[in-house]
Amino acid sequence: MTHVRPATRADYPAVLALERQLLQAHVDGMPADFDPSASDFTEHGFRRRISRPWSTVLVVEVDGTVAAYAAMSFVTATPVERVVARLPRRVGPVVETAYRSLSRVRPGRPSPIVRRPAAFIDSFAVDASVRRQRLAETLWEACVRWAEERGAPEIQCETFEFNKPILGFVEHVGLTLYKRRYRFPLTGSDSAGSGQSA
Ligand SMILES: CC(C)(COP(=O)(O)OP(=O)(O)OC[C@H]1O[C@@H](n2cnc3c(N)ncnc32)[C@H](O)[C@@H]1OP(=O)(O)O)[C@@H](O)C(=O)NCCC(=O)NCCS
Repeated sequence: MTHVRPATRADYPAVLALERQLLQAHVDGMPADFDPSASDFTEHGFRRRISRPWSTVLVVEVDGTVAAYAAMSFVTATPVERVVARLPRRVGPVVETAYRSLSRVRPGRPSPIVRRPAAFIDSFAVDASVRRQRLAETLWEACVRWAEERGAPEIQCETFEFNKPILGFVEHVGLTLYKRRYRFPLTGSDSAGSGQSA
């Protein structure tokens, strides 16, 4: 049976194992860019992430075993928006509108880039033994619910070009590409000839 739920402290070892698979996929795909010995997925960080209202780890259990996870956070510009994310669904948008109209008259750091709140998927992985069984789709639907419940206007994530499975998946669920990042390795530099693009 498949069941999606927020992770608990007891899930750390299972989530860590999935995070290692995720890291290994990146080490295999871009060995010059990823260090397999430098995972920052600590137990302390995991506990903080699952205990705060603006971040979460969601897991998919299959017959009682954690088979997939997503780490998400509500990317907000200010502490006030973090507070808004904790408020009930009906109250949050009202407070946010009031805050935005007030913050417009305050002098702020000038930037032409509009800072939009979003739910960001930091990590997303399905155990290699159970892929292509629509577990990622189930997990994605839970990510959407989590984001909607917090009033996030959109979900964002980043992927690397080598990662064909996730590119296939994001196309499958209908995410749209809005930003690209290129690189051009120079002769004699360490990265010359790696042939990878981020
Ligand atoms: C990407 C990943 C999450 C997909 O998980 P999954 O459970 O196998 O995906 P689903 O079964 O829900 O796939 C749904 C659809 O996504 C697309 N898709 C999934 N895997 C794909 C692949 N390897 N190649 C192309 N499209 C793929 C397909 O359209 C698929 O539908 P279909 O099986 O009917 O063709 C999984 O391969 C994974 O965990 N990869 C390693 C971790 C990783 O790279 N995470 C992303 C970090 S940015």
